[in-house]
Order: sequence, then structure tokens, then C-alpha cells
Amino acid sequence: MALFSDLPSEVSIYEVSPRDGLQNEAVTVPTTRKVRLIEALCASGLRRIEITSFVSPRWVPQLADGDEVAGNTPRPDGVAFSALCPNARGLERALAAGMEEIAVFISASETHNRKNVNKTVADTLAGFRDVIGPAVAKGLRVRGYVSTLWGCPYEGEVSPEAGLRIARELLAQGCYQISLGDTIGAGTPVQTQRILSHFLAEIPAPQLAMHMHDTRGTALANILVGLEAGIRTFDASVGGLGGCPYAPGAAGNVATEDLVYMLHGMGVATGVDLDRLVQAGQVAAAIVGHELSGKVHKAGVRSLDR
Ligand code: HMG
Ligand code: MG
Repeated sequence: MALFSDLPSEVSIYEVSPRDGLQNEAVTVPTTRKVRLIEALCASGLRRIEITSFVSPRWVPQLADGDEVAGNTPRPDGVAFSALCPNARGLERALAAGMEEIAVFISASETHNRKNVNKTVADTLAGFRDVIGPAVAKGLRVRGYVSTLWGCPYEGEVSPEAGLRIARELLAQGCYQISLGDTIGAGTPVQTQRILSHFLAEIPAPQLAMHMHDTRGTALANILVGLEAGIRTFDASVGGLGGCPYAPGAAGNVATEDLVYMLHGMGVATGVDLDRLVQAGQVAAAIVGHELSGKVHKAGVRSLDR
């Protein structure tokens, strides 16, 4: 069998729990506890962390303290912090907070995009001209999300071509990487192969990442397809924390512990210490005050060499 004949020695994990995770909690977590979570994530060896959002506090009150979170979290050497920015006001806040990286976001389906940012896809892309180019000109790195590619909670099936057109435009405006989002966690492996083939026919793999919510338990299966297809950056959320407040019923991203467990078991390095990551997951559960859904989070780490 030719499976797994070309696995990478290492992949990059982009941790989203302080943003994608905490934006979906019913209760707003106090700033000091958010900082404690980010510190625990850094201590586990994670090197790319989305720490908050600079969006409207009317839309996502859970992250209204983004400026304080960014201002109060020490950033260790070698760690990149990022934050979501929907518009020029968000970029202003990111610059004031000393961010070195931001992320813009847009959906491949019109209805989710409108529910999420109150604009059409075309107007959102046009608005990014006030964000991406100016951010790059100030020396920031800009990442782009294309959401709902595996399915829209309002429209159902989504055309990968619509997503590719958006990704092309985001790259042309200056994004360094596009994270392809299964926002509602609906994807299955053959569909994933089809979507990735569509993107990889035009965009080099290093410029792509996968952002797989795990609502139906298929995130790791889809990530495995991505790994085989050449994707080398995977978004994840410790403990499986999170979801999108404008995608009803969506669970969190693939749990970082589950992803790391699988990758390390396959001999693919992540730079993360799994025991310390499990401890960060315990911090996450403590600060939100409820149990999290991640499998390794619940079961613990079994020694791989036993
Ligand atoms: P709007 O209401 O159409 O626009 O919101 P607005 O310009 O009228 O702004 C409304 C109010 O917010 C105004 O204040 C603005 O000043 C203020 P008011 O006059 O009412 O007092 N405002 C801001 N305040 C702080 N920072 C800002 C900002 N912008 C406006 N940056 C807007 C349009 C885009 C702002 C709004 O729809 C919004 O913030 N949406 C964010 C929604 C969101 O964060 N969703 C979750 C993240 S996306 C996601 O989870 C998917 C992802 O994980 C990938 C995946 O899973 O696929 C990324
Ligand atoms: Mg998400």
C-alpha cells in the first residue's frame, strides 16, 4: 500500500482556542483567565496562537476585551500571536495593541457571510482593501479565512469554485496563507479530497491551511486527507473548545491534543509537548467552567512506546 509514503517530518499547528473557542462560550471569560490560557498554550510549545478578535463588541461581546488581552499577554520569543480583524477599525486596534499578525475572514456562501459580517461577499472583499494592504504596508502578516467551504448552515452545499475565487483575491491583496474552513464540521474525506484538489490545482500547499470544526467527528479523518495531499498547517483548539456564534450548532475546532496525539503517533513532529498541552486543556476547562469534548482531553495521554 502506498499510503503514508510521503509524510512530512513536521507540521505547523495554528491554535485558535482563545479566539474561536472563547467567542462561542455563553459566559464571557475574564481577561486575566484568558491570559492564563494563552500562557499555558505558549508553555506547551505552540508557536502560532490566535489570541482574540478585534471585531465589534456588539457582535461578539465575549471578546470585547481584545485590546486588554493583547496588551497583557507576554509574547515569548519565537511565538506569533494573531487576532481576527474584520475592517479598518479592527486594524487600528491591532496596530495600537502591537500585533504583528492579523487574520481576515469571509465566507464562501453569501448567507453565512451576511449573518457573520452584515455584508455581501463582494462588499467584504472590497472592504478588505482597507485592511490587508495597509496592514502589510505596516509590516504585519495577514492570514485569510475562507469559511463554509464544506457546507453552509443556511445554504447547504457550497461551490469550491466560489471559495477559490475568494482565496485568489485574498492572496492578491496580500494574505500569506488561506485557511480553508469547515465552519460547521460537516465534511467527509472524499469531499475533502475534492475540495483540496480544487485549491491545490492553483495555490501552492504552503499557502493553504485547514480549519476543521469537529461537530460530527470527522475532523481528523479530513486532516489525514489534507496531510496526504500536502497541507502542512492545521488549525486546532485545545480541548475542542469553540464554534462560530453565527453558525448555529457548530462545535469547536479539532481538539489540539487529538491532532498532536495522532501526528506524534505517526512520527510527524509539531514542536508541542503533549503532556503540557493536556495541562493547557485543563486550564481551558477550568476557565470556562465546564468539561470539554476533546478525546485526549478526556482520556489522557497513553504512552506511545508502551
Ligand atoms: P455592522 O453592525 O454592520 O457595522 O458590523 P458597523 O460599522 O455599523 O458597526 C457596528 C458597531 O460596531 C459600531 O458601534 C461600530 O463602531 C462598531 P456603535 O456605533 O453601534 O457603537 N465596530 C467596531 N468596534 C470595535 N472594533 C471593530 C468594529 N467595527 C465596528 N473592528 C462588523 C459589521 C463586521 C463590524 C460586525 O459584523 C462584526 O464585528 N462581525 C464579527 C463576527 C464574528 O466575529 N464572527 C465570528 C468569527 S468568524 C468565525 O468564527 C469563522 C472562522 O473561525 C473560520 C471558520 O470556522 O470557518 C474564522
Ligand atoms: Mg472557526
